[in-house]
Amino acid sequence: MFANSWTIDIIILAITFWTVLYLYFTRKFSYWKNRNVPFLSPVPFFGNAFKVFTLQKNIGEFSRKIYESTTKPFIGFFICDEPYLMIRDPELIKNILIKDFAVFADRTIFNNTKDDPMGSHLLFLLKTPDWRDMRRKITPVFTSGKMKNMYPLIAEVGENMVHYLTEYVSQNPVVEVKEVTAKYTTDGITSTAFGINANCFKNENAEFRMVSRRVFNWSYLGRAISTSCYFIAPNLVKLFKLKFVDTDSATFLRNAFWRTMHEREEKKFIRNDLLDILIEIKNQEDIDDPYKLEGDKLVAQATQFFLAGFETSSSAITFALYELAVNQDIQRKLRKEIVNVLSRFNGIISYESLKEMEYLDMCVKETLRKYPVLPFLDRRNNTDYPIAGSDVVLEKGIPIFISIWALHFDSKFYPDPEKFDPTRFTEENVKSRPQFTYLPFGEGPRNCIGARFANVSTKSGIARIITNFEVDLCERTPHPIKVDPKGFLLSPGAALHLKFKPWEK
Ligand code: HEM
Repeated sequence: MFANSWTIDIIILAITFWTVLYLYFTRKFSYWKNRNVPFLSPVPFFGNAFKVFTLQKNIGEFSRKIYESTTKPFIGFFICDEPYLMIRDPELIKNILIKDFAVFADRTIFNNTKDDPMGSHLLFLLKTPDWRDMRRKITPVFTSGKMKNMYPLIAEVGENMVHYLTEYVSQNPVVEVKEVTAKYTTDGITSTAFGINANCFKNENAEFRMVSRRVFNWSYLGRAISTSCYFIAPNLVKLFKLKFVDTDSATFLRNAFWRTMHEREEKKFIRNDLLDILIEIKNQEDIDDPYKLEGDKLVAQATQFFLAGFETSSSAITFALYELAVNQDIQRKLRKEIVNVLSRFNGIISYESLKEMEYLDMCVKETLRKYPVLPFLDRRNNTDYPIAGSDVVLEKGIPIFISIWALHFDSKFYPDPEKFDPTRFTEENVKSRPQFTYLPFGEGPRNCIGARFANVSTKSGIARIITNFEVDLCERTPHPIKVDPKGFLLSPGAALHLKFKPWEK
């Protein structure tokens, strides 16, 4: 007892406890001031990220606000008590992503190698040197030749989507687009990565669809918080032994992978999909190679197709359809182009015909400008780094953020940024903008390895829908659209309803 009363003792203890906690959590708050770097004033315990921790903003919106708070080339901020730096200037961005890549090869995102046996082998999370080795092995999967061979699988899934929609729309013109595009990308990725027909259009409760719902269901609060912790609170990931891929999903994906892999090896059946390529890579591995692809490392490569590809591409198609519904003139122009190109390709939406659809390419690019589904990039320096054009030396290990979304909405580069205008991506207009102001797939050696696959599958899906249906807003469409404040990807929220009408050819 310090005083004569328990009540006073408790008050003294509580004040001491909170003072110690306060001092601990604010001890680094002069970090940027001491280095003469402009910064945003933090609040104790949360730094500048109060709205992220309380799920009022996702990390994408958070980083966009930080970018928009200044016009300086970079600005310091805090997450909890840790100093972070937002890089705004395109030249500095270029240095970090490409010129000085050797210093910034790793992401800030935590990799829980101890508690996450499969998730920790995902390319997105791997650190150097393991990342370098894995990326070198996996890169051949995504060459244009391999994509071309895989395309018939994507086209088949696209045809299933059109059949499903035709039947559905004959009963009910209002379609929940997010669910349809999620079925499309889940089927496409399970077919190409796992060699399995998930059949989401026939079976509402297809197991792969259940897993994709679980992994990306931001309305399940635990999932939204745990994925955000990977970026901003690694200590909580360690403390609660969080996994990027939850145990049930990992077990399901692991079993599905090995079942097909064994069947394929036994029957010597070739399907030109990712699994064939992984079998080829596995069989060429040197048995003394410490990083050889085996066990969960192999499963993780198919899983990452699923994780990185399903939600991103499905959201991209959903956002594109929404914008085409809002902008009917653009929808008509796009349909006209597709029909025109198809008249030279026997009406077939093929790998080759998609390449000729320039306006479709511009529409997809403009969609990813307005809605970059992964809205920010993160990097960490492995050595002290003098920032070009300043006196600042970035201390080793300080996390860097680049806000893709804010760059895409900076009116210096994209006048009237709210306007959906595909002509921003004519050759001439692209040339007139500074480089490194359009980054939907990141840049440099650590860019999105699946960009080619994403482009083909997104365009193939949109082209099929637009040549079969007219898409319009309806009473249930959230207009203007609002992005989901949870999770770390930009997503059009829980549901997006649009009106579909069969297009009379
Ligand atoms: C519209 C769809 C997609 C978008 C907008 C997108 C965007 C991105 C972005 C911004 C990054 C970070 C790049 C960087 O840090 O510089 C990334 C990384 C990655 N993406 Fe995608 N992505 C999409 C689809 C896909 C697909 C379909 C796959 C797989 C088939 C995929 C696989 C990956 C992987 C494995 C990484 C990590 C690469 C590494 O660390 O080496 N993505 N993606």
